[in-house]
Amino acid sequence: MSIENTTLRLCPLLVAAAAGCAGDPASQPDGWDSAVALPRAVDRDSRADVVEIDLTARVAEVEIVPGKKTSAWTYDGGLPGPLIRARVGDRVIVNFRNELPAPTTIHWHGVRLLAQMDGAPGHSQPETAPGGGFTYDFVVPDAGLYWYHPHVDSAAQAGNGLYGALLVEDPAEPAALGDELVLVLSDMSLEDDGALSPPDQGGNFGTLFGREGGALLVNGRVNPVIGARAGLRQRWRLVNAARSRYFQLVLDDHRFLRIGGDGGLLEHPVEEDRIVLTPGERADVLIEPRGAPGATLPVRWVPYDRGYGSTFARPEVEAFRLRLADEPAAEDEPLPAIGRAISPLDTAGARRVDLQLTQQEGPGDLVLGINGVPSWEAEPLVAAVGETSVWTVENTMQFAHPFHLHGFFFQVLGDDGQPVRPLAWKDTVDVRVDGTTRFVVRYDNRPGMWMFHCHILDHADAGMMGMLNVVP
Ligand code: C2O
Ligand code: CU
Ligand code: CU
Repeated sequence: MSIENTTLRLCPLLVAAAAGCAGDPASQPDGWDSAVALPRAVDRDSRADVVEIDLTARVAEVEIVPGKKTSAWTYDGGLPGPLIRARVGDRVIVNFRNELPAPTTIHWHGVRLLAQMDGAPGHSQPETAPGGGFTYDFVVPDAGLYWYHPHVDSAAQAGNGLYGALLVEDPAEPAALGDELVLVLSDMSLEDDGALSPPDQGGNFGTLFGREGGALLVNGRVNPVIGARAGLRQRWRLVNAARSRYFQLVLDDHRFLRIGGDGGLLEHPVEEDRIVLTPGERADVLIEPRGAPGATLPVRWVPYDRGYGSTFARPEVEAFRLRLADEPAAEDEPLPAIGRAISPLDTAGARRVDLQLTQQEGPGDLVLGINGVPSWEAEPLVAAVGETSVWTVENTMQFAHPFHLHGFFFQVLGDDGQPVRPLAWKDTVDVRVDGTTRFVVRYDNRPGMWMFHCHILDHADAGMMGMLNVVP
């Protein structure tokens, strides 16, 4: 894995000969990514455009708190699950087995697949019972970083460790962007002895706030160290797989070049001084580490204001570290042009969908909803294949909500009704406290029932979820 992951920056031979570029080309230090290297799903199909893997959900012991065992819920025994790699247009077949003590499904977050493969229980497929299986079989039409997670009792199951990354590569992309890492960000609630905390910890307030685990994890590790060579770019493909925690990452004296998001590359890159990811979102960023040889650079998680007291709830913490090699800074190749043409969707004549994210009044368990109705009482929205729709999602609560639509990418609209620049394809977007978020979506020819929900999974499970029926 670590070898496959390391792109050596070889001087192209002809250039080397002409320019007299001799000796070892600059590269990331040996073992630079070993602390965060993800196990890779084994492709057991020899055809070039088919990736077929086996994937088993099961309880397995992992070590998160040093010296303590945690019985996590895992895909294939690891935390996170194996990295699935495919190329644009590949067919992906996943032979799934459920060896958990509970029913589950797998949802392929962000992938534009057919509704039957979307893992929505009761709509795409029945729940997969313990001891049962399901074959997921779909094509990955878009390059980007996607991820997989259960859609049954999601907050508990994802909170216990069920998530993994699916990277869809585009061979036509320029190669010299940077040495690549896939970083799955998450957290976990653990007791002192390493046991998983109960999923209903904190009762109604825990649900309302959204449960954040005390152990902040990067590829399943607490504060791992990533090697780097000053001056050599790294490309970080990040996904926020936490139930509820927003990630805001800062590296002092550095800026990030964000080149992509949920659905692949942006129209053009943007420079940012922090990476902000709500649960479910992805980012594709380039970073050029700078500092004295041998220096350690902390990448810090800093609290993000997602409403009611959230900035006071947790102190900042180191998410991971970069350790610079004991060598002088290297000179990287010039950055190639990055970006892609994205056409703004035409909103003229679009159907309107107006939603409010709501909290129900009343005794007993906390109930959230959309337009005042929890998911279990909601009637599906209806839309037609080929139709364009503008969604307006208004937040009536004192907490922010990352709003997610299954199956289709959208373009976020600004207050002027125009798509925000740089243009980007997204499937998850924040709706801030007292805020309203608008987006435009066009339903391509994939009819069926599609879910939409808050990706604070505690909120989704408490009722902040609905269905969209796209009819032929
Ligand atoms: Cu990650 Cu229903 O979604
Ligand atoms: Cu999804
Ligand atoms: Cu929410």
